[in-house]
Amino acid sequence: MKNILITGGAGFIGSHVVRLFINKYPEYRIINLDVLTYAGNLENLKDIAEKDNYVFEKADITDAKRVNELFEKYNFDGVIHLAAESHVDRSITNPMEFINTNIIGTVNLLNAAKEYWKDNFEGKRFYHISTDEVYGSLGKTGLFTEETSYDPKSPYSASKASSDHLVRAYKNTYKLPIVLSNCSNNYGANQFPEKLIPLSINNIKNNKTIPIYGKGDNIRDWLFVEDHASAIDTIYHNGQNGDTYNIGGINEWTNLDLIHKLCDIMDVKLGREFGSSRKLITFVTDRAGHDMRYAIDASKIEKELGWKPSLQFEEGLEKTIDWYLDNQKWIDNIISGDYEKYYDQQYKNR
Ligand code: NAD
Ligand code: DAU
Repeated sequence: MKNILITGGAGFIGSHVVRLFINKYPEYRIINLDVLTYAGNLENLKDIAEKDNYVFEKADITDAKRVNELFEKYNFDGVIHLAAESHVDRSITNPMEFINTNIIGTVNLLNAAKEYWKDNFEGKRFYHISTDEVYGSLGKTGLFTEETSYDPKSPYSASKASSDHLVRAYKNTYKLPIVLSNCSNNYGANQFPEKLIPLSINNIKNNKTIPIYGKGDNIRDWLFVEDHASAIDTIYHNGQNGDTYNIGGINEWTNLDLIHKLCDIMDVKLGREFGSSRKLITFVTDRAGHDMRYAIDASKIEKELGWKPSLQFEEGLEKTIDWYLDNQKWIDNIISGDYEKYYDQQYKNR
């Protein structure tokens, strides 16, 4: 049995990756390392928690000693590293958590892999999951390719860019077998309702205002989270050693057009008069340093590895809305005192 370490497996994307690997590869033992921050939730994995090939380890990647102990205990064959602080707005109010987890935490994992694998890198792989935000912000035209220069503009994206550089430096300096991917905005089930789509679904349902930063003309390229998980599976198994792959949805939307679409679908689902949810839209003070546009050129992964997104946006959005409407308990468990405190601080006076 191969032992594969997945970090951040209790989070949004990580939980979809863990589920895919557990079900598709019974010959792998998946060790999910997660410290369970506000964004980590074991409920995301309750359907696979009892599987024989699943192990959960509550651990903090900023704790080098603990990370080394886990490498010693499991003798990992591969690492898929997703654990991170992931919300841009939180990075603006509290950058240090992003520096610690995203940079120091990544280096702790790299050091452990280098040390425990050094006698024989054969068959080993360190896969670092990153974001399109490292490339900065696009104007009206152009796409991010794997060759685009890094130009991160928020503490979050700068911390992710830094970790990407360190992963590549460990390949160059120590010959660590690595692979990276940089993905666009994900959406789907189990996303914490601080991010645009789940926050808006929850607010529409509860007749609360939908806060749109600035004029709502910023553009994002949206990918269904299960498609990202399948791209990660493809890259982990077939990606070239040392390479980077951009992953995207070929699906650009302004925030305002996206929220209009969401409102219209939800009016139908909730049996409300057409147009009533759009009335909840409220323009609020813009995010500091708000990146204008992200868009991915995903031709390399399609040409070289045969991966492309499987879902049309409308279908993915419907599935996502249905999931949130059917899983009120999941949301109720999250919308605790802490979430309300965050929400008040984030949106009051905007
Ligand atoms: P998330 O915030 O939902 O989950 C992050 C997980 O990491 C949580 O389970 C959390 O408990 C865990 N974690 C945080 N700090 C930790 C620490 N110090 N030690 C151990 N575990 C820790 O994030 P997500 O949206 O699922 O993103 C996962 C990864 O994918 C991140 O690396 C992110 O940068 C990247 N990414 C996200 C998107 C997106 O649209 N969400 C797009 C591209 C790339
Ligand atoms: O592009 C990939 C990135 O996508 C990931 O690396 C990040 O981890 C992930 O959080 C996401 O970053 P964004 O900042 O693009 O996602 P968010 O959902 O926070 O915001 C999407 C857009 O919506 C962005 O232009 C800001 C805007 N927005 C967001 C919120 C939370 C609003 O207008 N109002 C809001 O209340």
